[in-house]
Amino acid sequence: MTKKLYIETVGCQMNVLDSELVVGSLRRRGYEVVPDAGDADVILFNTCSVRQHAEDKIYSALGSLRAHKKRYPRKILGVLGCMAQKDQEIVRRRAPHVDIVCGTGQLSSLPELIAQVERTGQPQYALGLARNEASRREVEQSFESYDPLRDPSVRPSPFQAYVRIMIGCDKFCTYCIVPSVRGPEQSRHPERIAAEVTQLASEGCKEIILLGQTVNSYKFGFGDGRRFRLADLLARIHNTAGIERIKFVTNFPRDMSDDLLDAVRALPKVCPYLHVPAQSGCNAVLKRMKRLYTVEYYRDMLARCRERVPGVAISSDFIVGFCGESEESFGRTCELVETAGFKNSFIFKYSARPGTKGTELYQDDVAEEVKKRRNNDLLAIQNRVSLTDHLRWVGRTVEVLVEGPSKVALKQKDPPGGPVQLTGRSPTDHIVVFDGNSRLIGQTVQVAVEEATSFTLFGTVQTREHIGVDQPRHDDEGPLLSIATKEGIKRISLPIL
Ligand code: 5AD
Ligand code: SF4
Repeated sequence: MTKKLYIETVGCQMNVLDSELVVGSLRRRGYEVVPDAGDADVILFNTCSVRQHAEDKIYSALGSLRAHKKRYPRKILGVLGCMAQKDQEIVRRRAPHVDIVCGTGQLSSLPELIAQVERTGQPQYALGLARNEASRREVEQSFESYDPLRDPSVRPSPFQAYVRIMIGCDKFCTYCIVPSVRGPEQSRHPERIAAEVTQLASEGCKEIILLGQTVNSYKFGFGDGRRFRLADLLARIHNTAGIERIKFVTNFPRDMSDDLLDAVRALPKVCPYLHVPAQSGCNAVLKRMKRLYTVEYYRDMLARCRERVPGVAISSDFIVGFCGESEESFGRTCELVETAGFKNSFIFKYSARPGTKGTELYQDDVAEEVKKRRNNDLLAIQNRVSLTDHLRWVGRTVEVLVEGPSKVALKQKDPPGGPVQLTGRSPTDHIVVFDGNSRLIGQTVQVAVEEATSFTLFGTVQTREHIGVDQPRHDDEGPLLSIATKEGIKRISLPIL
């Protein structure tokens, strides 16, 4: 009998990928994914610890399942990922009805943990070692990567895939919990990555997004002294047949080498898009954050990116209200955002994370109200900058990999066969919305950009497409084609070539 699985994922792309791998491995063991926790035999939460808010959400969801678990004691409830790794004791205390607590490095043992609960009725715990608990090698092994070749049917989109090239982080920015919950930095063997990319391409995947906490720190040492960096890896996978686009996230400013930028420029499938979080525009704050660079260094790095990769789009992350951030410090961040020309920025209010150096060394002394205001102010500045950036695209034609119906279209019922509002991304990672036939999903099309907002480019698809039941037919002037445009379906005659 098939068992039913419900999984909820919060957090970053790493978590999305982990959940995908977990679902793949359980589906191979006969599980079927259901959209409702109430219907499932196994209920899993893949968790995030980067901010308190993400943890609160999970505890609230666990709390609301307490009565359900009491009523159906044979159902299995599991907490996976970063929060499991960070707070196993707290999870046990706050949610004693949880059966499985499984860290980021132990996800491959999840089927076994489920079987153990079924056999013994006892809770199961599987976690990586704390970073100060054992030798580096032992801690590394306890976080060993889990990247089996995938089950294509469980990928959220058949033509896009995340590929993990490294795990963990050694930077220890003082606000960040990631080095504790994802363990030491370890890069995967380039040939294993290349094999995964080839496999994904053979399954119809067109866009690969390489993942790492500091993806541009990737380095793999072969026994013979040769070293592979991200630039080498990009060159290695670039010619994989079927792959059209390669992106990589997230970059650390200090590791943005000229070699890497030259590779981005030289390799046509590598998209001219870089996500390089600055976090703050104030040197004193950057120092307290232990980001290992100054604003001047960051600005020079941006200039280098733009010089070596003409037309590159750059996006950033910022934390507002970090310990000791004065109005003046915040003003420097505003100035950076006003002048740096980011395509977009993700802005977060500082959330003190027990277990980080930040909470040990500094007071979380910026009031919540002030954090909120700074968040809104910085967002307003970034939105103006994004609009200026977006308006530059109006009148140009961009290549879009069509991802699916737009948010608006998802809310509407479309007339069968008619045009639907679609969304996709350009090589520079701009979101592009246009009307077209849903058969375009997964295709690369040319879109003429006509309008822009701070978040989106709107345009008309230029690629000729056959839609509806009409077969192209010849009339006096040439074959007649139906084309979906912004105004609706147009029928046009093509000249006979
Ligand atoms: N509080 C708020 N934001 C944080 N980030 C990381 N740690 C924290 C924290 N403690 C943000 C950083 C990072 C992004 C993924 O999350 O900006 O780049
Ligand atoms: Fe966290 Fe800093 Fe590592 Fe990024 S580089 S994951 S912010 S410690």
